[in-house]
Amino acid sequence: MVIIVGSRREGNSYYLANKIKEGLAKERIRTTIITPGNQKIHICTGCMDCDKNGVCDFTDDMKNNIDILKNEEYILFITPTRWNILSGDLKIFMDRLNPMYATQDLKGKKMIAVAIAAKGKELYSSEAAISSLLSFAESAKMNVVLTKEFNNCLYSNDILNKENEVQDFINELVKLINA
Ligand SMILES: Cc1cc2nc3c(=O)[nH]c(=O)nc-3n(C[C@H](O)[C@H](O)[C@H](O)COP(=O)(O)O)c2cc1C
Repeated sequence: MVIIVGSRREGNSYYLANKIKEGLAKERIRTTIITPGNQKIHICTGCMDCDKNGVCDFTDDMKNNIDILKNEEYILFITPTRWNILSGDLKIFMDRLNPMYATQDLKGKKMIAVAIAAKGKELYSSEAAISSLLSFAESAKMNVVLTKEFNNCLYSNDILNKENEVQDFINELVKLINA
């Protein structure tokens, strides 16, 4: 599995990704974590050259990221909710996946969409963030197999107080992958 972490701070998304990696390792499931915000990734210029040959003109960390994604069946996105939608780091990353659209390399891959939000569930903020990830999946022809919202996480380590909820989510992931 590959986890794409949509926040560059050592915060809730970071802690969750590492908890998942730890939990899956116990089941002998290998996880790669990518944090686009801490990588060198040019912003897509929209030149559309990749539509012709599936290759981006930029040489940066996206080359290796795309190689990793090509070989993974499960791609788990964790987005911090920002203005009700996905983070800018994730959007920049997604735009640079356009070479994979051209080659249809994302088609049929399994997406797990996770959003973390400061607001409570009743305010639907994380739900809206999830729906932005689902729209990407639809466009990329990926199959969404699981979604999860973690709410009431304002401070950088609030998710560490949700031990049971995190463990239940990891159990669901294991069940899914081992099915
Ligand atoms: C620019 C910005 C916008 C945000 N917008 C929202 C929002 O619309 N709804 C919400 O519930 N939380 C919002 N938050 C709070 C973050 O979603 C929350 O703190 C989350 O836990 C951050 O994840 P991280 O610790 O992985 O960075 C926002 C935070 C920032 C920095």
